[in-house]
Amino acid sequence: MKELYDLGEPLGVGAVPAKMHAFAVRQDRFGQPRDAWRREVIATPEIGPRDVLIYVMATGINYNNVWAALGTPVDVIADRQRRGEPEDFHAGGSDCAGIVWAVGEKVDNVKPGDEVVIHSGWWEPDDPWVLSGRDPMLADSTRIWGYQTNYGSYCQFARAQSHQCVAKPARLTWEAAASYLLCASTAYRMLMGWAPHVVEKDDVVLVWGAAGGLGSMALQIVAAAGGRPVAVISDDDKRQFCLDHGAVGVINRNDFSHWGVMPGTESPEYGAWAKGARGFGKAIWEAVGGRISPRIVFEHPGEATLPTSGFVCGTGGMIVICAGTTGYNITLDLRHHWMRQKRLQGSHLANDEQAAAVTKLITEGKMDPCLSHTYGFDEIGEAHQLMLDNRQPYGNMAALVNATEAGKGAA
Ligand SMILES: NC(=O)c1ccc[n+]([C@@H]2O[C@H](COP(=O)([O-])OP(=O)(O)OC[C@H]3O[C@@H](n4cnc5c(N)ncnc54)[C@H](OP(=O)(O)O)[C@@H]3O)[C@@H](O)[C@H]2O)c1
Repeated sequence: MKELYDLGEPLGVGAVPAKMHAFAVRQDRFGQPRDAWRREVIATPEIGPRDVLIYVMATGINYNNVWAALGTPVDVIADRQRRGEPEDFHAGGSDCAGIVWAVGEKVDNVKPGDEVVIHSGWWEPDDPWVLSGRDPMLADSTRIWGYQTNYGSYCQFARAQSHQCVAKPARLTWEAAASYLLCASTAYRMLMGWAPHVVEKDDVVLVWGAAGGLGSMALQIVAAAGGRPVAVISDDDKRQFCLDHGAVGVINRNDFSHWGVMPGTESPEYGAWAKGARGFGKAIWEAVGGRISPRIVFEHPGEATLPTSGFVCGTGGMIVICAGTTGYNITLDLRHHWMRQKRLQGSHLANDEQAAAVTKLITEGKMDPCLSHTYGFDEIGEAHQLMLDNRQPYGNMAALVNATEAGKGAA
């Protein structure tokens, strides 16, 4: 990693080199993440009055930059160029632990030398919606940092807005601190941000992909709030991990076969689908030891699972969804939806308060970041490939950027 610094310039305190190493994708190599992500030397970004420049020690790996590599469902480079940004590359990365290196003249919440993690909610500071004091995640200008913006955490120096900085949990290494926040803050908003459907004591919550990045965070948030998370997995090897992180029961989705778009309610296939969905609902009751259906269903697979989520959600409950990993065409038996007065709620990332609240749980040791593996800087592409192939071990992954070895940075 030493050669990363060797750009022919001295790097004294406060000095910002003109160039840096970064992992980037370009349009002519959109495709499989292991080939699309490449290490390049690019210009270090300039910062605006409310920005910070972060000396990135480690980065988390997130699914959004799998999508960026594929160039679908959005070509993030073309999208930014349409808005007038000149860069023909995407230097991504939405989860960062590092040291504040420089600050814009209007920044007063952090200073050079502060150790921070960066949450990935980005919005125009003078957006009228934001200035009105309402939830900035609903503002027109809101974007996901390091996905819809350039110069994220796969850069030696990342550019962020100062409000994105959250004090780094001192107990964590650089790589553990870099690994959790995007998934944890998203899960926190899904589970605690949509009143009155916030997790309360004894609430049953169904968590899809429970051993994954979002799911492992969700299990722990539900458990910390006194709820009863039921985990869904596809491989029995992940069962113990879920139980260790708060699950009261675990269901292997491979025990069922009714997944995908729901057949028409008048079609001959509907009966078999409904039988599968009912069987899955029964498995939830077995997991919780009684006929109690979930008050909240924590969704992200989308097309393959949403019909079942809608079916098994309890009367007056909420299906909250932040992604469509398996597809975007959702089907739902509306009869159950209206008769049992359920809510289908979209959710996206988190605001500053939600990022701080979930980091407090991490700082206090009430949640573990679930770092499964730390990769070297040059393995960033391969780490995304594992994610696309659903071969990542469990929880969250990280890669070193300026940190020269794993295991450093904890107080
Ligand atoms: N909107 C937002 O703010 C936001 C934030 C974070 C993530 N996301 C999105 O959320 C999704 C998940 O992210 P992640 O970080 O949790 O990814 P991840 O770590 O790869 O976990 C995803 C999990 O989904 C499960 N899964 C895969 N295929 C499935 C299928 N056909 N049916 C049911 N479950 C399936 C897998 O678990 P099993 O195979 O064990 O079931 C896997 O562990 C991605 O699309 C990501 O882009 C959105």
